[in-house]
Amino acid sequence: MADLLIRGGNPLNGDLIIGGRKNSAVAVVPATIMAAGTSTLENLPAIGDVSTYTEILQQLGARVEGPSGGTLRVDASRVRPDGAPMEMVKRIRASYYLLGALLGRFHYARVGLPGGCDIGQRPIDQHLKGFRALGATVSLDHGEVVAEADELIGTHIYLDIASVGATINIMLAAVLAKGTTVLENCAKEPHIVDVASLLNAMGARVVGAGTDTIKIHGVEELKPARHAIIPDEIEAATYAIATAATRGDVTLLNVVPKHLDSVSAKLREAGVIVEENGDWVRVSAPDRPRAITVKTLPYPGFPTDAMPPMMALLALSSGTSVISEGVYESRFKHVDELQRMGTKIRVEGRSAVIEGVEELHGAPVHASNLRAGACLVAAGLAAQGETRVSGVQHVERGYEHLEDKLRSIGARISRYPDGADSRGDDELRVVNLGPA
Ligand code: EPU
Repeated sequence: MADLLIRGGNPLNGDLIIGGRKNSAVAVVPATIMAAGTSTLENLPAIGDVSTYTEILQQLGARVEGPSGGTLRVDASRVRPDGAPMEMVKRIRASYYLLGALLGRFHYARVGLPGGCDIGQRPIDQHLKGFRALGATVSLDHGEVVAEADELIGTHIYLDIASVGATINIMLAAVLAKGTTVLENCAKEPHIVDVASLLNAMGARVVGAGTDTIKIHGVEELKPARHAIIPDEIEAATYAIATAATRGDVTLLNVVPKHLDSVSAKLREAGVIVEENGDWVRVSAPDRPRAITVKTLPYPGFPTDAMPPMMALLALSSGTSVISEGVYESRFKHVDELQRMGTKIRVEGRSAVIEGVEELHGAPVHASNLRAGACLVAAGLAAQGETRVSGVQHVERGYEHLEDKLRSIGARISRYPDGADSRGDDELRVVNLGPA
């Protein structure tokens, strides 16, 4: 796959439309297979994880139209509870939602263990604990999780960790259980509310999504529905941070400013101007950012997924910043790559101490996972000279039309070596990137 080539150092400027939320999309897409008939999803982001998911659904027997223009139609009348190809399931983390969706509808699911970003251990014990509490037996057979039940019966479930994935997965299975499930210590991310909205539109009775206790009154069956996915606050946060890092001025459209509160607060602390109203947020940064401390936490805390790009910004701040990672055990894999660009960062356990420098310089770097890639792109946009980012397939899993969107706000970004067949390297760079 071609690398991304960025000639950094100029401010991002203009308006940018934010797409549908990745982590919502990868839950509502599998939720559509819980009802026979055709469900329609709108505002679906054009990202790799959604493409992989639609391929998996087809392998399970769904008829899929789209996504086209952000709309996907899924006819789940002929879906089977097994047959999800292991190779595809391993490409994405969210394939674990097939377990809850299939177990709910068929009382049987056979799905390979999920893949996804390499950011430390990511067990799914809380998901499986929930399925077992609902009456399923769960076993592992040659790398596949097999969950089955004669019937699912609602019960009290307390999550040991407020896991986003476990909250959604158990909710999926429990909507078709007999009686009421009370799920406690739930995660509260807005996409949990989004999934509950879709399920309720399908006839489920979910109450309390977005709080730490969700009540699910089981129903006998679900019917197809139409649902529009909420905006992606991590995509918005990434562009907001990249704008600040380049000292630009960008208005992000189609966002829910409330979902960005923690990011906006930290940007303001760093001296960035953040204005908001209705469904837009404007970010402008005339000055060098100030050093701040950031601790990532479950929502409404500062999102771990926005932490790597935030590090690119703080690498350029005046003073010493500290970032503590409160969700994952190991999410600093981008630091070694950032150092190639002249940052001064020391990782101590789950914290990183960032001594700000005045300038970053472009370098060849490798994205080892999705948000590491977002960090390196943000750093590349702010750096002087050229940055070449490899491992772009990780970035494409979660950012739609990345180059087009960035170019529309003035970034000089291109693919390399796409189109290199008849031109020398230097010429290609001039053609694709414009004047330095
Ligand atoms: N955890 C357990 N046991 C479980 C579940 C989670 O120990 O059964 C631990 C995890 O190891 C982790 C923490 O709990 O340390 C939080 O995990 P959580 O389940 O909340 O996260 P996830 O469902 O694996 C989703 C997103 C992530 C995002 C987190 C937190 C999807 C597909 N992934 O992961 O997104 O970081 O929630 O908001 O929705 C990304 O977009 O870059 C990304 C990694």
